[in-house]
Amino acid sequence: MNMTPPVSRNVSQSGLLKHHLQSVHDALKDDLQGTLPAYIPELAQADVHTFALSITLPDGETVQVGNTAKTFTLQSLSKPFSYLLALQTCGFDAVLQAVGTEPSGDPFNSIRLEDRKSRPDNPMVNAGALVVAQMLLEKHGSSAPSEVQGWFERVLGHPVHLNPQVLQSELQTGHRNRAIVHLMRNLGMVQQDPEEVLTFYLQLCALQVQVKDLSLLGALLAGSGRHPISGQQVVSQEVVRQVLSVMFSCGMYNSAGDWACKVGLPAKSGVSGGLLAVAPGKLGLAVHSPSLNTHGHSHRGVLACQMLAQRLHLHLLDAWNMEGQA
Ligand code: DON
Repeated sequence: MNMTPPVSRNVSQSGLLKHHLQSVHDALKDDLQGTLPAYIPELAQADVHTFALSITLPDGETVQVGNTAKTFTLQSLSKPFSYLLALQTCGFDAVLQAVGTEPSGDPFNSIRLEDRKSRPDNPMVNAGALVVAQMLLEKHGSSAPSEVQGWFERVLGHPVHLNPQVLQSELQTGHRNRAIVHLMRNLGMVQQDPEEVLTFYLQLCALQVQVKDLSLLGALLAGSGRHPISGQQVVSQEVVRQVLSVMFSCGMYNSAGDWACKVGLPAKSGVSGGLLAVAPGKLGLAVHSPSLNTHGHSHRGVLACQMLAQRLHLHLLDAWNMEGQA
């Protein structure tokens, strides 16, 4: 696969995007509200000043500003992609039987499973992502971690590393996830060794990217599965539509409704402070800023997406193009 990004062919569009990214960055750079996730001690040491934004267009062109060299772990940003891989390798029927597509209205780490005995609500909350991890584990056995890592590496065009400190930190303190996976084992939603499922899920959460990698993954989804740089169809349109639909309804957990009104794009956040929003046919937008709001989303990430969605006319329910024309 030729992974050389194309030479900019639309200077005015990338210039405009750069201008908007820079102005949103400048407007929010001193806003240090929010908190770091204390339940993962390694993430609680992040530098709250870090702030980076990136946009990748479906033709592979990337525009970025801020502390773009910093790496961060995917955390829940891995969930849309493990779901994508499960749909691709296990098929829709098997995946939909194991995990639903309904917003739960609950936080990402909700343990409320007893009244929904057959399957977790959706693959964006931890319970659903643990079941998706189990499916990939069942399919690939002990090579599951390298299969998923390899997929990210092929798409991103460079090595993707797992952060061992973050993995250890979560393995040691992840009592809530441990409780969820054991409860699901008890309810029959998980059939494999709960500790193995948990470890694999946390390995996916501990994969590291830069903000430009996240926006490229967004551009892959925005381009209906066509790779932004190689132009190859690497994911089927049907799978991308399913992933984006679930991101739209469930990706922002119990703030999905507010997000739909204010941003109007499929999205996913991670407790490392990464946030990905996808404007189908237009762009992938990624933000990295570690301080989180009460829903576990990057505080500045949410504000930046709101501002950019408005400035670039990205809300899916508006019949406008990026120049603001109907
Ligand atoms: O399982 C957890 O709690 C973390 N590894 C991931 C949670 C997360 O990123 C929630 N998203 N905002």
